[in-house]
Amino acid sequence: MQRRAKFFVIEGLDGSGVTTQAERLKNWLDKRGYEVSLTKEPTDGPVGALIRLHLARRLFFEKAKDSFAPLDDYTLALLFAADRMDHLNNVILPRLDSGIIVISDRYYLSSLAYQSLKLDLGWIKQMNSNCMRPDLTLFIDVPAQISKKRIERQRWHVELYEDIEILERVQQSYLKIIRELLLEGEKIKIINGNQPVQKVHSEVTNAIKKALSKTGVRSLEQLTYLPDS
Ligand code: TMP
Repeated sequence: MQRRAKFFVIEGLDGSGVTTQAERLKNWLDKRGYEVSLTKEPTDGPVGALIRLHLARRLFFEKAKDSFAPLDDYTLALLFAADRMDHLNNVILPRLDSGIIVISDRYYLSSLAYQSLKLDLGWIKQMNSNCMRPDLTLFIDVPAQISKKRIERQRWHVELYEDIEILERVQQSYLKIIRELLLEGEKIKIINGNQPVQKVHSEVTNAIKKALSKTGVRSLEQLTYLPDS
């Protein structure tokens, strides 16, 4: 049986350039003759569609006359986990099993970083504990201010997690959880996203080259760029 292909994840704040870097990485691998598939969360599957309606503030429950409430945080966290399980079983694993490299634009690290702002991190970890660990997660690290400016340039509407205070908290949450996961042996590289797109891309591809090579990435030192703060 063919060996399972590598599974890479790109993560970061909204506006950090995750989608751009994931697309560039796919093109880079395509050009080198790899079979590669780019996918994202929330997905375009049935659960992902519900999540997107919620994020765009278009999904409300009428509590009383003229009083509407969005989905509660627990339900949303469960939906992200359900969307991920569907994504994993129906998209990611079948492709990996047929030898195709998969790049996912967001995965469970997003749930750990975003949903733990309001909910217990242990519960969110538990809910996602049956999800396959990626071979490498790349975290594109940009300051919240920069992320906010980029969002404003790109969008005409603001989604749920795009206020500056929330972005700052998500940023801190990502960095704290990444440190914990590194200690648990997960392969995560933090890349400075506050540099020209091409420079970020070359750091992304350097990390991927190491992960694809036989020796892989061996130590935390090799894996980690720690930001100044
Ligand atoms: P996107 O802008 O990359 O499409 O992601 C939509 C938003 O959903 C973004 O603000 C991050 C958030 N999100 C979570 O809060 N938890 C998750 O598990 C995922 C995958 C995304």
